[in-house]
Amino acid sequence: MQEEILNLKNQAMAQIMSVNDASELEEIRIDLLGRNGKLTNLVKKIKEVDPEERAQVGNTLNEAKRTIETLLAQQKNNLKESAREWFDPTIPGILPKVGHLHPVTQAIREITNVFTGIGFRRVRYPEVEWDYFAFESLNMPEGHPARDEWETFFVDVPENKKYGKVVLTPHTSNGQVREMLRLKNPPIRMINIAKCYRRQSDVSHVPMFHQFEGLVIDKNISIVNLKGTLDYFARSFFGENRKTRLRPFHFQFTEPSFEIDISCGFCGGAGCRLCKAGWLELGGAGIVHPNVLKAGKIDPKIYSGFAFGWGVERSFMMKSGLSIPDVRLIYSTDLRFLSQF
Ligand code: PHE
Repeated sequence: MQEEILNLKNQAMAQIMSVNDASELEEIRIDLLGRNGKLTNLVKKIKEVDPEERAQVGNTLNEAKRTIETLLAQQKNNLKESAREWFDPTIPGILPKVGHLHPVTQAIREITNVFTGIGFRRVRYPEVEWDYFAFESLNMPEGHPARDEWETFFVDVPENKKYGKVVLTPHTSNGQVREMLRLKNPPIRMINIAKCYRRQSDVSHVPMFHQFEGLVIDKNISIVNLKGTLDYFARSFFGENRKTRLRPFHFQFTEPSFEIDISCGFCGGAGCRLCKAGWLELGGAGIVHPNVLKAGKIDPKIYSGFAFGWGVERSFMMKSGLSIPDVRLIYSTDLRFLSQF
């Protein structure tokens, strides 16, 4: 009898699983569990089983009954669900999630467009660089204290006789002399955007960030051209009514040197919590030092030029009007933050 029960159970399960309409399922149920059903009849026959085996057969029967009942109920439910299935082709589909470019990439593209629109040429120079291009050719010989401002990472490889140590470039100014040597003759209108590295990490600094460096060299280039270019950039990138101002500063590779401020977008220059008396600090600039022109094999008696260099992240944050509590968020992989831009 044991075997009979198991066979019936297996058969019943197969039948139930292959059914695909509710009335067929009901027929199967009656055939098994109805008053004269196959399983019901087996239950009736339990009296005839040897008393020693009865308990075990009873267990098997109960188990078979339970399995069949559960399966019947499940299948009944499934059939109900699929009867409810319908398809309306006019309902809009579910849009797949589409990502977007990282905000820093967006900013780099925008900055590139502003400058290429007025004749600058986008270039890239090494991010793993010789000391010579990062410092020495920029009027900062070895041991010069001005170097300390660029908290530089050094790469542990042998020095080059001519170009010195290998560094992770701490600013995009390494592109200046490289561009002069590449083009040989002015006019030069370079926009160099690249990664920069400094040994720093806190709420307003990341060890890897981006700068964009402008360099213009031609005859009769003066501060007027620098100021005009900066104002043009401020208007195009930050908005029509933004202005820049130059504040005297010092860099070894420019003379005179300036820090550039931009009028505050929140208070319009009146002075507010976010700015210093109406101005926000953007970056450095100046008139290219004659020694730098010489390093680039350009005659400072004939040509002059200006250069500027700013942080991309900083510009992006200032443009979006965000006071991000921690710049490092930009390089976190937190989509809640990134997907806002
Ligand atoms: N390289 C300077 C910096 O990292 C910025 C700068 C670029 C200043 C070009 C003057 C001219 O701070």
